[in-house]
Amino acid sequence: MGQPTPARNDPDWWRSAVIYQVYVRSFADGDGDGTGDLAGVRTKLPYLAGLGVDALWFNPWYLSPMKDGGYDVADYRAIDPAFGTLAEAEKLIAEARETGIRTIVDIVPNHVSDQHPWFRAALAGGPERELFHFRPGRGAHGELPPNDWTSEFGGPAWTRLPDGDWYLHLFAPEQPDLNWAHPVVRQEHEDILRFWFERGVAGVRIDSAALLVKDPRLPDFVAGRDPHPYVDRDELHDIYRGWRAVADEYDGVFVGEVWLPDTERFARYLRPDELHTAFNFSFMTCPWDAGRLRASIDDTLAEHAPVGAPATWVLCNHDVTRTVTRYGRADTGFDFATKTFGTPTDLALGTRRARAAALLSLALPGSVYLYQGEELGLPEVEVDPEHIQDPMHARSGGVDPGRDGCRVPLPWAADEPYAGFGSRDTAPWLPQPDDWPSYAVDRQQDVPGSMLTLYREAIRLRPAFGDGPLTWLPAPDGVLAFTREGGARCLVNLSGTPVDLPEHTRVLLTSGPRAADGRLPGDTAVWLV
Ligand code: NOJ
Repeated sequence: MGQPTPARNDPDWWRSAVIYQVYVRSFADGDGDGTGDLAGVRTKLPYLAGLGVDALWFNPWYLSPMKDGGYDVADYRAIDPAFGTLAEAEKLIAEARETGIRTIVDIVPNHVSDQHPWFRAALAGGPERELFHFRPGRGAHGELPPNDWTSEFGGPAWTRLPDGDWYLHLFAPEQPDLNWAHPVVRQEHEDILRFWFERGVAGVRIDSAALLVKDPRLPDFVAGRDPHPYVDRDELHDIYRGWRAVADEYDGVFVGEVWLPDTERFARYLRPDELHTAFNFSFMTCPWDAGRLRASIDDTLAEHAPVGAPATWVLCNHDVTRTVTRYGRADTGFDFATKTFGTPTDLALGTRRARAAALLSLALPGSVYLYQGEELGLPEVEVDPEHIQDPMHARSGGVDPGRDGCRVPLPWAADEPYAGFGSRDTAPWLPQPDDWPSYAVDRQQDVPGSMLTLYREAIRLRPAFGDGPLTWLPAPDGVLAFTREGGARCLVNLSGTPVDLPEHTRVLLTSGPRAADGRLPGDTAVWLV
């Protein structure tokens, strides 16, 4: 432990940080009840420090009925009892900081839980109705929803109440949308930000950041019509300028969940008086293809440059198919719309590519997000429908496998019951597949060639690239090669055939074995100096 070093106090830490995403429910179970918790995270701080990460992003840990894994928040200032207490969260934030790890919390401003006091008061007919979007229905008897918007989880975005009115929910019915035109909603969220910054958090992830503001007329959706009635409305920028003023009082930073195909519109959120960073979903969903990846990297860097914001690099998160699985399929991109059960997967191939992708993303300029279990090479699990809790599954009529496949509780100890998650008596909240112990931390720790060792080494060696911009180097077709100011070079071979290594003094790290003749095989990456 000891005093934080000056580097750890660097106010620009977020520009190049490695940030580890903790889905608390599935990370580590401290009390053995089958659900991950803050006590569990506290016991794993040495593991996280050993991995070398700079910060932890916690998915929502607040009081919640868990209708959407905690993205249905009933109280933003309380920890869900399944996870622990507020005092424990404060301890965790402080202990993490002592080991040099910062904390990022996840704020969900677009909606609340239907159990939030505001919504309960609204249902009881109170003036809180104005804090949501309540409307009479259409049709002779108000039997049709007020407009044709659909929920991101499938089905209509409106639910009718017994009193005849409808309310808007862009996600599940248990997640009513807030009315961001109301000053009380704005005030409350600035207070929530202060509440967490006061407790020592270094940053805030903003859920569904581009969806908050709705066209007040709530018109039907018309494809191609600008502006969209609820995505990326101009009014959002004023909200985030207000948030930035709060964050600046604490040197806090933001990372926005902004899914927008238009790069110019995306970059607006990253202007100097708005959000510091936003997730790079174009890279995350990009197929394993040299040309596509290079274009995605170039577009990312070009869109960030004019606003001076650093890029982020993400391979997966708690919403998408795990990387080793995605890269082992015929379609190596990601699209929510095409997820199905039973997709054939070559895990050995996917794992080779995921290892190469790890070296690629950790060499790029900007910050990198790692999703828990990515460092273990965990595959997506095909969860038996009877165990699936994610509302995406049920609301798709059972067609979409949902997102629980990437949320299966982590394996820590191969020989313990439930691979070290839960206790002998209590199974984890989602069943683990039979081969889970083979991925356990204690099977990979300090094992040369394991995924965990690769990640730990890559994070340790990453400073060899320096802080400077990226320069592409000449390379054979299908090979990505670049360097940065620090002088290290990264080569990723997506060509399918082995390639010669350029001249070098030393190989820092390879994602897989080199060929007997020293060449770099396909689906393999190398760092050279
Ligand atoms: C995005 C989150 O990442 C996802 O898990 C959640 O379901 C939706 N926002 C709604 O909050």
